[in-house]
Amino acid sequence: MQNDVISFLLKRRSVVAKKMLPQEPTASDLENIIACGLRVPDHSNVQPWRLVIVQGEARAQFDQQIILPAAIAANKADKKDELSEMQLELESNRMQRSGLVIAVLHTPVVPHKIPLWEQQLSAGAVCTNLLIAAQSLDYAAQWITEWLAYDASVISALGGDPDRDKVAGFIHIGQKKQQPDERKRPVAGDKISFWGLQH
Ligand SMILES: Cc1cc2nc3c(=O)[nH]c(=O)nc-3n(C[C@H](O)[C@H](O)[C@H](O)COP(=O)(O)O)c2cc1C
Repeated sequence: MQNDVISFLLKRRSVVAKKMLPQEPTASDLENIIACGLRVPDHSNVQPWRLVIVQGEARAQFDQQIILPAAIAANKADKKDELSEMQLELESNRMQRSGLVIAVLHTPVVPHKIPLWEQQLSAGAVCTNLLIAAQSLDYAAQWITEWLAYDASVISALGGDPDRDKVAGFIHIGQKKQQPDERKRPVAGDKISFWGLQH
């Protein structure tokens, strides 16, 4: 049997951030997207996640004040040649590719009776729900990490503790220029088995 949710899930596709029109979702759509993002399975209600929204002018500020200096510092630390014009341009615009970015910080509670792994899975579920909610409203959306997710200064700038917290993802949301093409999908038969049954 199919219903609207199944039909949508069977067709949904991400649109890469660089191919989006950088328009924000409406305030009421954003409210719903966030509510869906927070409504995830979460063993023992630990809530090991925080959302940081980067929108409007804050996107350019985050690019200029946080990402670009972090990219230059990481490059220096790696003793590489200076960043090229093209790389500088890329690092100056990461947050501005889309209309709005929701950074999902995984903020685990440790030690805790709920294993860290389960808390991490719940943070992934937040990203999935945000993505799916945005796509269901026909926005262009993508879940990305890139190098930024692993940079201590970026985690700090988002209010996280780099020694404990992780960026589960940056959910970019914008408008579609065109419908995305389908991509290769796994073949169910290669991924599933029925334990104990002969097929
Ligand atoms: C944790 C995680 C991190 C990802 N990081 C990136 C990334 O940094 N850059 C990228 O191009 N795609 C990244 N992706 C992949 C895309 O978000 C997406 O899965 C892919 O474009 C296909 O999406 P679709 O199956 O929703 O259409 C990441 C996916 C996950 C789950």
